[in-house]
Amino acid sequence: MDKSDISFFKDGLRLDGRRADQLRPIRIEVGVLARADGSCYIEMGGNKVIAAVYGPREVHPRHLQEVTRAIVRYRYNMASFSVEERKRPGPDRRSYELSKVSREALEPVIMTSYFPRSVIDVFVEVLQADAGTRTAGINAAAVALADAGIPMKSMISSCAAGKVADTIVLDPMKEEDNFGQADLPIAMTPGGDITLMQMDGGLSPDEFHQAVEMAMKGARDIYEMQRAALVEKYGKLEASTIEVKACE
Ligand code: CDP
Repeated sequence: MDKSDISFFKDGLRLDGRRADQLRPIRIEVGVLARADGSCYIEMGGNKVIAAVYGPREVHPRHLQEVTRAIVRYRYNMASFSVEERKRPGPDRRSYELSKVSREALEPVIMTSYFPRSVIDVFVEVLQADAGTRTAGINAAAVALADAGIPMKSMISSCAAGKVADTIVLDPMKEEDNFGQADLPIAMTPGGDITLMQMDGGLSPDEFHQAVEMAMKGARDIYEMQRAALVEKYGKLEASTIEVKACE
């Protein structure tokens, strides 16, 4: 199939029925893995991604230790069954790149100076991919870091905007990503400080501004969902702790 075979809009709506500025449905679950210090499962449309955080813990190999801060490691991995054509298992150029940019998206908010000589390990496993897996991974990882009790200056939320049929769209799905004209994933703090920005394809300066604005609005909405998922877990815990205290 090439992009000329695809009609991206029908009756003004996208192939999955969304408006141009609409996110796919999102589901976030906190603390899904018993052995991890923190974890999160996220669905963003057809993406299904799990993040596990371990640490702060001792660094192996020891020569990677930093005396003034913790190091952060981030491993993005796509399961071989997560895509249409079986993906060869193991790391490749794409997963190295995504691991690097995702780590850099999160590192600025992690208070690494609290934990010298240690490591914070973040593992992201993509179980099902439908474009935007790096953004889903970063969203899940940020929640998993909070679930692990890692001190952070703020949450990080991530979302992409793209261009299809000369229209800027929020949160492109696979057909839009693979056959569209541009893809622009970002990650940012709730205050609007951008920690990741990448771009594939071409956008005019006006389109670029429109895409950034749209992706930032998407990231703000995702932040509210990340917050709600954490409150769902820890808000309830707090309430029950208060109840226990009241009974004593
Ligand atoms: O997933 P993300 O958009 O962050 O990264 P991408 O490299 O732009 O990949 C876009 C999409 O292409 C992925 O989410 C998958 O759905 C698909 N893909 C695939 O089918 N097979 C691969 N080996 C890599 C990506």
